[in-house]
Amino acid sequence: MSTYTIDTATSRATPSPAPGKRLTAPALLARKGKEPIVALTAYTMRMAQLLDPHCDLLLVGDSLGQVIYGLPSTIPVSLEMMCAHGAAVVRGSWHAMVAVDMPFGSYEESPQQAFRSAARVLKETGAAAVKLEGGAAMAETVAFLAKRGIPVIGHVGLTPQAVNALGGYRARGRDEAEAEKVLADARAVAEAGCFALVIEGVLEEVAAAATKAVACPTIGIGASVSCDGQILVTEDMMGLFERTPRFVKRFGDLASEIKTAAAAYAEDVRSRAFPTEEQIYRGK
Ligand code: KIV
Repeated sequence: MSTYTIDTATSRATPSPAPGKRLTAPALLARKGKEPIVALTAYTMRMAQLLDPHCDLLLVGDSLGQVIYGLPSTIPVSLEMMCAHGAAVVRGSWHAMVAVDMPFGSYEESPQQAFRSAARVLKETGAAAVKLEGGAAMAETVAFLAKRGIPVIGHVGLTPQAVNALGGYRARGRDEAEAEKVLADARAVAEAGCFALVIEGVLEEVAAAATKAVACPTIGIGASVSCDGQILVTEDMMGLFERTPRFVKRFGDLASEIKTAAAAYAEDVRSRAFPTEEQIYRGK
């Protein structure tokens, strides 16, 4: 099943407004050099509902490995996890395009393996696009998918699934060779047919040059304000974690709000101040 109607009698879902037309890959492609693309990650139905009115693109990122599952990296994330969370985000949104990350090991072997995995993601979630990491080495795969009706978002620069090969998460493009590689990777996947390109963790001038060099919109994270759009991990920008990476601007303080609410609840339970008459049922 790819689409679901939220049953408000049995779930906590806020009824969605009448479904409009979702943003499509061609619509986002046409945003090159125009109004910036607003993108955030989403992993759950409720978060998707809250973010959707403000976003053009909701990315079900494999960062859910760390953010939701407490894993040490994105490497252990499975296709099953991505499909389950992808379907939840599609159920909670009606306007933004939903794209789902292809997890490590689900696409690198061959274009055929990538097609099978991406087709499964689109069938099981109802999402309209997939994102995969890698530059020139993935160009053939991007072209294979794009020619077969699967819209692809590329991802170059700091590619977290390659953390073992890169030796960490430091920003890329610091010397001429690295900068040239980022540019060549961006050109390769853009020319292969991706409709948008995430540029992560690269020096500002390299991200700006890559944005000029490709025909599709670039979406920056730790990149440049001159990218055609920006994306952040929602929980980072909402302040759910104490540690904020340098490239994140905090737009909220969820951690404090949650701690305050949990402490107030604990106090009310311990002092028997909760539940009150208002929250209990009595026979007539
Ligand atoms: O997994 C992820 O969240 C991403 C980012 C680009 C935010 O790939």
